[in-house]
Amino acid sequence: MSSPDAVLAKFREYVLGPLRFMNLLSCFELGIVDVLKGNAGGGMTAVQIADATGIAPHSVEQMLYLLVKEDFVSFDESSASYALDGIKHLSDDDLGRVLPWMDMVKVVCLRQLYYLTESVRTGKVVGLKELYDFEGNFYEASTRYPELQASWGAMMDQVTGFIDPWFFGNLDLPDNAKVLDVAGNTGLGAVLAYRHKRVENLHVTCFDFPEKEAEALENFRAHGVQDHCSFIGGDVFDSVPKGFDVVMIKHFLDMFDKENVFRILKGVHEALDVGGQVYVLVPIYPEDVKSSCSVDFFPAYFLGCTMAQGGPQKISTYEQWMEACGFKVTKAVSQDISAMPPDVIPVHGIICGTKTSP
Ligand SMILES: C[S@@+](CC[C@H](N)C(=O)[O-])C[C@H]1O[C@@H](n2cnc3c(N)ncnc32)[C@H](O)[C@@H]1O
Repeated sequence: MSSPDAVLAKFREYVLGPLRFMNLLSCFELGIVDVLKGNAGGGMTAVQIADATGIAPHSVEQMLYLLVKEDFVSFDESSASYALDGIKHLSDDDLGRVLPWMDMVKVVCLRQLYYLTESVRTGKVVGLKELYDFEGNFYEASTRYPELQASWGAMMDQVTGFIDPWFFGNLDLPDNAKVLDVAGNTGLGAVLAYRHKRVENLHVTCFDFPEKEAEALENFRAHGVQDHCSFIGGDVFDSVPKGFDVVMIKHFLDMFDKENVFRILKGVHEALDVGGQVYVLVPIYPEDVKSSCSVDFFPAYFLGCTMAQGGPQKISTYEQWMEACGFKVTKAVSQDISAMPPDVIPVHGIICGTKTSP
């Protein structure tokens, strides 16, 4: 940046970010967007919106100034009425992708990031201690606090549902394969693996903390895959279950620093027989950090909100780490950023490796 003015203008955008974020999200939460949507573009005054949402007309006007400025909503001076503008172009799928992220940023990030500096300084998720009196990482906390699991889980399921068709398109499974989904959360990855890979006699096992078992089994029943999917409870740092041909590790290695990534990869290597395969799916930093928004999100998210460690790496780094842990890397592919919807934040990579010797 060449001038102080350009730098100052950037700082202004950073100062305004959290306020804009909550103003927009609140308009959804207050029902203002739904009411305007229900009115089918006819236009509503602040008083009509207020009557329909139960908030004061003055507050409606204040909350909608920003949305009018951003062309999300239009305002007709002559009739003093509001109608959806930019937002009306978003499909239910678009909103189903964006809104879980916004809710997660509110519930998981905004409050905890107040303590980012302390979390980085101490290597602990200080926000969890301050807000919940909880010592540990976010994933442990989410098993105890349903509102954290609900908000984060909706975002995670959305990311998994979005990325998994690409992931499974790159996954080769033989008939009769026994697949282990390491850190498989409440089983969505196992369900999708079974659905996407139409091979004979496939069995997918979700491995995660024991607290996830009940919800995972319920998910398997709800999707009618209970005979093909199962659950093992445990901690990956204690041991990785044996007896599987293929191990999937999705959205997990990025949560840890190098030392712990090596512990996980070595644990998986030990659990597999020679010839066994591992498929890693991770958010990655592109070789040119400026080409995506990954670094805008992940460092603060991992250090301040969830783990107080970890964060994505470049795909070339993951390849080196897998080789260092005994795998022969057979494939490494990155998502094509230009083919992704503009709101999508993580850019993913898949790295596939084979255990070639004991
Ligand atoms: C970011 S989520 C990824 C979930 C899933 N793989 C997906 O792609 O949707 C990380 C998962 O790791 C699990 N996890 C965290 N630490 C773990 C550990 N030490 N052992 C087993 N699972 C763990 C969490 O419970 C959580 O479900």
